[in-house]
Amino acid sequence: MNKKITTAFEAQRQACEMLGSPLTRDVVGFCADNFAANGVIAELVRGWQGDPLNDNVPLRLAGFAHYAALRGDGIAAFYESCGGRYQDTDRAALAGALVDLFTREEKTARRFLRSAPQTNETGRAAMLLLGFSEIAKRLGLPLRLREMGASAGLNLFFDQFHYRLATDRGDMDWGRADSPLSLVAQWRGTPPALADEIEIASRRGCDLFPVNIADADQRMKLQSWVWGDMPDRRARLLAALEIADIAPPEIDRADAAGWVAAQIMARPSGQATVLYHSIVWPYLNVSQRFAIESAFAQAAEEVRSDAPLVWLKMDGRELGTIAQLSYRIWTGANGPEGEEVILGPCHPHGRDMEITAPF
Ligand SMILES: C[S@@+](CC[C@H](N)C(=O)[O-])C[C@H]1O[C@@H](n2cnc3c(N)ncnc32)[C@H](O)[C@@H]1O
Repeated sequence: MNKKITTAFEAQRQACEMLGSPLTRDVVGFCADNFAANGVIAELVRGWQGDPLNDNVPLRLAGFAHYAALRGDGIAAFYESCGGRYQDTDRAALAGALVDLFTREEKTARRFLRSAPQTNETGRAAMLLLGFSEIAKRLGLPLRLREMGASAGLNLFFDQFHYRLATDRGDMDWGRADSPLSLVAQWRGTPPALADEIEIASRRGCDLFPVNIADADQRMKLQSWVWGDMPDRRARLLAALEIADIAPPEIDRADAAGWVAAQIMARPSGQATVLYHSIVWPYLNVSQRFAIESAFAQAAEEVRSDAPLVWLKMDGRELGTIAQLSYRIWTGANGPEGEEVILGPCHPHGRDMEITAPF
């Protein structure tokens, strides 16, 4: 087990280096050193029940340090997210502060380590937008949004963000120019014109571990998973929270396997039901996937044109693989198979997309 934990630390340290977070790289590195020296980190994670790599043990430790900083612990001095700063010359001071924090707060840290890292990446809305727009243009109905694996549900507000999209046809702008959240992404290929407006009938999501943004502690935990020296990602998260705060989304605590069926079987007329997800499929086991596919097969048997059904995915089969944006649409006139449209592969965080559908 010790070997597995050591391997997990090294893999995470390298990932942080590659992804441009020297602070998280060093937090993980110092935790690894302390673990090897049988310090407080070894007390906390020795004998971990599970796979330390899959369970993201190093990121849970780094998440706790950031959470403590956000709550006002002195370690905040190293976190840009808290007005602090970290540079190479601070390495010894950071190492000392970490040992001190984990020693003082061992009990709180132990509780924190039980929760898996949980982010809600609003950048993905810059990919999903193309799907929502195509669906709205085709069906001409308000969208009844249903998101499985919604986390805090921030992408349910995609229509209230502003987008700046660099495309082969030149730059495109979409959304509210005065939105607190402006997303920048690249759409390679030749996108179609976007819907002028997308009307939303209702928004609802589910998650095994929903984040309640009205709860101060859960809100802080959500922030703690965004690395403390990544100001752009943090700014995006805070802006999306500001939007969602106006009418917080309803996120049911539920397994997608049963929830999807309940949401798509009975559909109100005059609305297009859009069940969607981003980077959730790899987390589902075979029977959960089968339950969702069966629910769609059953719902697709009876689709009327006044209550169409769409399954929009920004997802891959496995974690770490490229995601694909696609949708299957049942209009009431195209039979139980419906029609599948593959829009193209995209970056899993929503940085860019290759539009392969012919427009
Ligand atoms: C990588 S996160 C993606 C969150 C969000 N879709 C986004 O794009 O930011 C995966 C989410 O799926 C949720 N999840 C995993 N298995 C699930 C299940 N069986 N039912 C519902 N949610 C699930 C997790 O709790 C987590 O919030």
